[in-house]
Amino acid sequence: MKAIVYHRYGGPEVLELAEVAPPKVNVDSVLVRVHAAAVNPVDLALRGGYGETTVPTYFPVIPGWDIAGVVEQVGIGVGEFKPGDEVIGYVRISVAHQHGGYAEQVATEPHTLAPKPANLSWEEAAALPLNGLTAYQAVVRALDVQAGSTLLVYGAAGGVGSLAVQIAIARGATVIGVAADSHAEMLRGLGARPVSDTGPALEQIAALAPNGVDAVLDTIGQGTVSAVADAIGHGATRYASVVEFTDHRTTPVLARLVPEDLRAVAELASRGQLRPRVGAVFPLSAAAEAHELAATRHGQGRIVLRMNP
Ligand SMILES: NC(=O)c1ccc[n+]([C@@H]2O[C@H](COP(=O)([O-])OP(=O)(O)OC[C@H]3O[C@@H](n4cnc5c(N)ncnc54)[C@H](OP(=O)(O)O)[C@@H]3O)[C@@H](O)[C@H]2O)c1
Repeated sequence: MKAIVYHRYGGPEVLELAEVAPPKVNVDSVLVRVHAAAVNPVDLALRGGYGETTVPTYFPVIPGWDIAGVVEQVGIGVGEFKPGDEVIGYVRISVAHQHGGYAEQVATEPHTLAPKPANLSWEEAAALPLNGLTAYQAVVRALDVQAGSTLLVYGAAGGVGSLAVQIAIARGATVIGVAADSHAEMLRGLGARPVSDTGPALEQIAALAPNGVDAVLDTIGQGTVSAVADAIGHGATRYASVVEFTDHRTTPVLARLVPEDLRAVAELASRGQLRPRVGAVFPLSAAAEAHELAATRHGQGRIVLRMNP
């Protein structure tokens, strides 16, 4: 099968299209024919060597944690899926960063998969697992956002931020989203109240939420939690970040594969309450170009690799 591999850490140029042995299917694993794989910021970071001291890495690495595809074969012990099922998958391997989703086929364990929401395209479905898990675990688990509460999201147009906005709105919360002016209309369309990240954001937020906000989600770092918590206080407001964990008032959110959460995210999408934003789509062979673009662009939707069209 064809896959993108890298044999050493480096820039986008280390990504190569290669012919590799097809994955083996064990008694408890599922072989998925991958239709699309998302390009996430973490893929770029790992390719650059970010995980060198913490993630055992065996070269050549096939990058990519997010896939959408069709089940081709199941091990004899797998009852949850059958050939032909359309699935999404979070195929991160925590101890060996080696067999990722930038490939025509992936063998993975059933708990990493959930049914693909039928109303999403392959590209949208591939953009759902990591960002959906992160947003869900931030909004629901870390911040416990409930109906009637007010959530403030920094980086509201991003992959994680835009899903967090939608999850909180689906729960009946009011959402204020801080993003570039160019995203204001999109955020209004999701049901959020946009705040420009170029102006005096805290004054705009105070005007929109005179009684304060119940929870703040940071997806951009740069001292955001500290600045906001200093300005609006900590007591009644909960803070979570997916990028910066230094302030003691922050609950760190690091996406984990909780199968129940992956299914919850897929179900929200099936009900039309959650739709990832997809930007550019590249063929598998153009993964290096996709990484170059991902390193430069902001908030235009997830970049996705498309295989087996
Ligand atoms: N902890 C975890 O488990 C986890 C999981 C997934 C992602 N992450 C991390 O979370 C971060 C966001 O990921 P993503 O996939 O959502 O990235 P993304 O799709 O590239 O979005 C990043 C967003 O942040 C916005 N932004 C950047 N600086 C900003 C500022 N000063 N004020 C307001 N908005 C700003 C960008 O806005 P513009 O469009 O205006 O530039 C963009 O919309 C990344 O660092 C990623 O590595 C962590």
